[in-house]
Amino acid sequence: MSDTKRKIIIAVDGFSSCGKSTFAKAIAARLGYIFIDTGAMYRAVTLYALEHGAIRSGIVDEEAVAGLLDEVAITFRFNPSRGASDIYVNGDLVEGKIRTIEVSNCVSQVSAIPDVRRKLVAMQQEMGRRRGVVMDGRDIGTVVFPDAELKLFMTADPAVRARRRYDELTAKGQQVTLDEIERNVRERDAADMSRAISPLRQADDAIVLDNSRMTVDEQMEWFMRTFTEIIDK
Ligand code: DC
Repeated sequence: MSDTKRKIIIAVDGFSSCGKSTFAKAIAARLGYIFIDTGAMYRAVTLYALEHGAIRSGIVDEEAVAGLLDEVAITFRFNPSRGASDIYVNGDLVEGKIRTIEVSNCVSQVSAIPDVRRKLVAMQQEMGRRRGVVMDGRDIGTVVFPDAELKLFMTADPAVRARRRYDELTAKGQQVTLDEIERNVRERDAADMSRAISPLRQADDAIVLDNSRMTVDEQMEWFMRTFTEIIDK
């Protein structure tokens, strides 16, 4: 019923590894909306910086990263087998390479660089111009689309989030420990909330979804009720 109605912007913000992308992707598929994973864009810039000498031994050279931005062209292409878009940098598919622990360890620092945010926020605003998008990130409801019709703020217990990320990475064959992942989750929470520019914070008009003890189906049921209330207004 709702797909014949007006299209809106759904902002899904929140902590890392709390299932934002899985949830946002499922919502988008259900509504026939475009799903945009903005974390993947910050990860793609981080990967490019790692591969082009702007990050050495885990030290991020902010000026060098900013200096690379003009040569980084990010594009998305829908991949039907995933039911979501894959991300490309200068035409190269980087979807698999951006989810490593090396990228995760540097991405908070890269995403705190003002020039990086300026460039990616402008791209995100352009991608959502025609509405009908579910955008997942940290600052979508506060900075990218403060006028989004529906804002969700997702959270879950850090230990639950670390376990989920650990299961995901080990299933892909990556050699990681649960301790290392939990440390990374907590460090990223702190870094994302304390950075000077666009820190992670709940928009005043966001609805909180704590999914520590919810299944994906329960989250979807909850979401459809909330969405219908908003779209019927
Ligand atoms: O969602 P994710 O874990 O893939 O995001 C990777 C990093 O990018 C995360 O540490 C914070 C940053 N990020 C951001 O600063 N703003 C966004 N809109 C999305 C992600």
